[in-house]
Amino acid sequence: MNRRKFIEKVAAAGAVGVIPKLLQSQLPTVTAEAGTQSLPIIISTWNHGLDANQAAVDVLQKGGGVTDAVEQGVRVPEADPKNMSVGLGGLPDREGKVTLDACIMGPDGNAGSVCFLEHIVHPISVARLVMDHTPHVMLSGEGALQFALENGFKKENLLTPAAEKAWKNWLNTSNYDPQPNWENQPNEFHDTIGLLAVDKNGDMAGACTTSGMGFKMRGRVGDSPIIGAGLYVDNEVGGATATGMGELVMKTLGSFLVVELMRQGKSPQAACEEAVMRIVRKLPEHKKYQIGYIALDKKGQSGAFSLKKGFNYALYQADENLLIDSQSYFDS
Ligand code: GLY
Repeated sequence: MNRRKFIEKVAAAGAVGVIPKLLQSQLPTVTAEAGTQSLPIIISTWNHGLDANQAAVDVLQKGGGVTDAVEQGVRVPEADPKNMSVGLGGLPDREGKVTLDACIMGPDGNAGSVCFLEHIVHPISVARLVMDHTPHVMLSGEGALQFALENGFKKENLLTPAAEKAWKNWLNTSNYDPQPNWENQPNEFHDTIGLLAVDKNGDMAGACTTSGMGFKMRGRVGDSPIIGAGLYVDNEVGGATATGMGELVMKTLGSFLVVELMRQGKSPQAACEEAVMRIVRKLPEHKKYQIGYIALDKKGQSGAFSLKKGFNYALYQADENLLIDSQSYFDS
């Protein structure tokens, strides 16, 4: 075994070490030598990833394409009014307006994105339309809304009573101080959903969608709609997606970095770890925030790593859809 493969094997074993015991026996060992996993494989961020993965699998099992699968997968949390970090029901900005960011990439290298979009429940499907039917990659704000309405999307009120109440509570202090994992309290907040899939032919796509940081400054756009930051897919190599404080991901172009590290031979796990370490080394503000990366390569090997404890992700492989705790840089 050469040195690189040995390090990758140890990293993969370390990743398995943080998974609850019950799940460990259910997971296949993922090592550099394991070769192609049984496909398809789908991976996505946070608890809401379980239902999203299932919707993506359903598309693939009915013979749908991998880009359709990732789009349909993330539409599930987008449509869930109880989910306060994505789509309908997302927390508004500091002026009480819900503004959404999303992007999508397909196996042909094409990409579409919308940002600062209001009133549309499924920004990911508007991003898909930008990708498939325009010569552009990104539409923003009023222009993105106009494009959506011209293409048959319905204008809706995305501010649910629960999100409005949370905003009014926040107005009492107006203290803008996002904390790690506040997004992921049971039954309340999650964060961005990023979802990556490799189909049975080894073709890959990814989608990423969010309402962004709760009570953000008006006009703030995070990493999620930025190709290479919140999401990147290269069908020759693999894909990566990010969650957490988008500014840190944007400053390091994190998802592109993970994919390029995989291109250079790193496992998805080692690549996610190095992307987090890049943030640790370069950005002193990292101590305050949470970042989580997930990655999937063309052979179906997966990896995840976060700055702080508390990040989890959903992994569908070998007909099982499991929620897994990510390993992290900090112990707490
Ligand atoms: N990662 C989501 C955001 O920062 O908006």
